[in-house]
Parts: sequence; C-alpha cells; structure tokens
Amino acid sequence: MASETETFAFQAEINQLLSLIINTFYSNKEIFLRELISNASDALDKIRFESLTDKSKLDAQPELFIHIIPDKATNTLTLIDSGIGMTKSDLVNNLGTIARSGTKDFMEALAAGADVSMIGQFGVGFYSAYLVAERVVVTSKHNDDEQYVWESQAGGSFTVTRDTTGEPLGRGTKITLYLKDDQLEYLEERRLKDLVKKHSEFISYPISLWTEKTTEKEISDDEDEDEKKDTEEGKVEEIDEEKEEKEKKKKKIKEVSHEWNLINKQKPIWMRKPEEITKEKFEGLCKVIKEVLGDRVEKVIVSDRVVDSPCCLVTGEYGWTANMERIMKAQALRDTSMGGYMSSKKTMEINPENAIMEELRKRADADKNDKSVKDLVMLLFETSLLTSGFSLDDPNTFGTRIHRMLKLGLSIDEDEEAAGADTDMPPLEEDAGESKMEEVD
Ligand SMILES: Nc1ncnc2c1ncn2[C@@H]1O[C@H](COP(=O)(O)OP(=O)(O)O)[C@@H](O)[C@H]1O
Ligand SMILES: [Mg+2]
Repeated sequence: MASETETFAFQAEINQLLSLIINTFYSNKEIFLRELISNASDALDKIRFESLTDKSKLDAQPELFIHIIPDKATNTLTLIDSGIGMTKSDLVNNLGTIARSGTKDFMEALAAGADVSMIGQFGVGFYSAYLVAERVVVTSKHNDDEQYVWESQAGGSFTVTRDTTGEPLGRGTKITLYLKDDQLEYLEERRLKDLVKKHSEFISYPISLWTEKTTEKEISDDEDEDEKKDTEEGKVEEIDEEKEEKEKKKKKIKEVSHEWNLINKQKPIWMRKPEEITKEKFEGLCKVIKEVLGDRVEKVIVSDRVVDSPCCLVTGEYGWTANMERIMKAQALRDTSMGGYMSSKKTMEINPENAIMEELRKRADADKNDKSVKDLVMLLFETSLLTSGFSLDDPNTFGTRIHRMLKLGLSIDEDEEAAGADTDMPPLEEDAGESKMEEVD
C-alpha cells in the first residue's frame, strides 16, 4: 500500500526567498555544498551530544559520517549524513513552514548588495540547494520517528511522505539534488574535492566521496588462445595492421569500479581510540627524553604494560639482558665498542598514567629545554637502570642527583648553600666528564 503524500505550502517569506535564489543571477553558487555539509555536521554534533548521556542513541547507526555521491547517470548529487535526522514534524517545520527571522533579513541584505554566500549566517543555508538544483529530495530518519521523504521543486509547495520503499538510513539524512542542466560541474570528482578543501576541510567528521575508477584489464589467457586459433584457421591473409588493431582492442577491457575516498582533513579526535590519543599526547615527551638520554637508549615509547613505576627499561631481541650486561662488564677483556653497542639497545617504556610522567610531559610541552626536565629524565633513567637490574656507569653522579632531590625535599636552598661551602655540584644534565675537560683547557 502506497503511503499518503501530504502537500504543504511554503511560508510566504520562504517562498519569496526561494524565488530570489532561483531567479536571480549569482555566480557564486558553489557555496551550496558548504551549507549542506555544515548542516550535516550540525546534525552529527547533535546526535553525538545526545549519545554522551545515552549511548544507545547511536545504536541505529554507530558510525558518524558524511557521504557525497555524484551520479552522472541521473545528474544527481547526494549527501548522506548519519546525524540526528529529522522527524516528520521537523521536516515540515524546519524545511518550509516556519520562517526564521533571518529569512527576511537575508533578502534585505541581498537587496543591499550582500553576497549570496552569507546565506548561512541568516539561518537559511538549506535553501541554497536551489542555487544548483531544480528539485530537492530530503529523506530523513530520526530515532523518535519513522523514515520520511520531503520533496520540492520550489514553486510554492513541498510534499512529505512516509518512506516505505526507500533504503533505510538507520539514522540521519539524505539530500538528493537533481542538478540544473548547467550545474553538472558538481558531479565532477575534482570539483567536489576542491570545494570540500576550500570550504569544509576542517569539518570534524569524515567526509567521503564516492568515486569512480576505471581500470584497464587484460583478457585472460584462454581468450588469448582462442584468438590465436582464429588467426591460424584461415584468416592468415588478414593485413598485419588490422590484426594488431584487433588484438589491442581484445586485450584490454575497461572495468569500472567504485570506492569511498576520504576527502577532508583527518580522523577527528573523538573517533580515535583513547590509546592513540594518549600516545600522541606523549610523543613530544618521548622525543625530549630520547634527546636527553642520547645513545643510552635506543628508543623511548609509550607503554601500557608499565603499571606502577613511571618507566622501565627493556632490552630488545638483540640487546643484552641486565644480567648479561653485568657479566660482560665484569670481564676484564671485554670488547668495549661491542659493549657500548649492545648495552645501548635498551628501550625506555614510559607509563602515561603515572603522575610523574604527566608532570614531566606538561613541563616538556611548555619548554622542551626546561632544565628540570633534563635532570628528572636522567634521574628516572638511572633509577630504572637500577630497578630493571642494570648497573650504573657513574654511581657518583647518580648519588649527587639524589642528594639534590633530598635537599629539594627538605627545602634547603641550593644556591645559598653553594655560595657558602664548596659543595662541588656537577652540571647534572650534562656529561660531568666533558665539562671537567673544558675546565682543564
Ligand atoms: N542534514 C540535516 N540533518 C538534520 N537536520 C537538518 C539537516 N539539514 C537541515 N536541517 C534542519 O533544517 C534547519 C534549517 O537549516 P538551515 O537553513 O541550514 O539553517 P541553520 O543550519 O542555520 O539552522 C536546521 O536548523 C535543521 O534543524
Ligand atoms: Mg545551516
């Protein structure tokens, strides 16, 4: 049984606006895409916001996306979003019967010389679809209602029908633009990609374009074989050129396939896994730590297996274990260059959940040359060496660092003390040996 179609009259001012959009010459029509994408993005924001307090609101369609589908066979451009969607009354009210105050204001602004591209600021961006389309069909599914279709060729009225035959959206809105004959440029992949880059690049939902790919496929060997037989069986007199031509034609078959192409910037933050975000957050600190430690470690990574301590040291497949390193160091005749190489194959794994690491990250992010960061990194490294079972190359420097920390903990002002007695504090963040050499020079 076909669903009942209801016809509604556009509110008078909206009707006026539509006539203006359709009949006035504006060259800057391309802004329609930005307006429709912006509406899709708003709708996605709304459902995402609702889902924060009620996850089940996403059940009908868990993915949040914007799809753009140009179809040259029907001269239609379709946008699909998995946003909040519109109920039947939303369609009736928002797309035609209730005028915003901006409707009149926008018309006045246009009359006063404003550019049509300002339409969005007046809250009537949707109607910009009629800059390029002669007919617009909006299919929408809201969690609280059935799927409905809104349709209009302007001309004073629109219809709303319950959608019983169309493909179910799950949740969201599909807008199909039946493009005017002179607006078919909006079916071109290049044009659409450029437009999204120009006006909608930083929309925080993935925008995917349905693209057509033509690949040339060679025919199979069997078919090739048949071809050869053919030529042997009497068609030998065929002129060479003709034969070649025929083979060329036969060997390549054009195959048309489609694929989704992500055309805006990047995966928005809320779509990424929490681990990914944490890793990224600590990337800067990892770099700073590696710089401070230099060859002492091979790399510094964020790890989820360090539980209580701020960090730990692990040896790679080819590095020496803590025990092996101790044995090698104890051997009088060890190959020192080898030792240096092997003992550098340590990976520092940092624990992003640890409060010390978080504070270190903040300081490193604020200033990557922060002296306290360098000091703390060295101290953490040396402590991890000990807790991971390695031995220290220079226990004295480590001791000095600990003493400095103790003084800090006891609130003893270092400068005051240093001024009085000869406490001999090595510059902790640097190689003490090197600076002594400089002094000798
Ligand atoms: N893709 C969509 N999904 C859900 N609702 C939409 C969508 N497009 C338009 N709407 C509804 O239509 C209204 C009018 O859109 P528009 O004319 O662009 O004005 P504005 O975006 O400034 O509100 C929106 O406020 C929204 O309620
Ligand atoms: Mg809008």
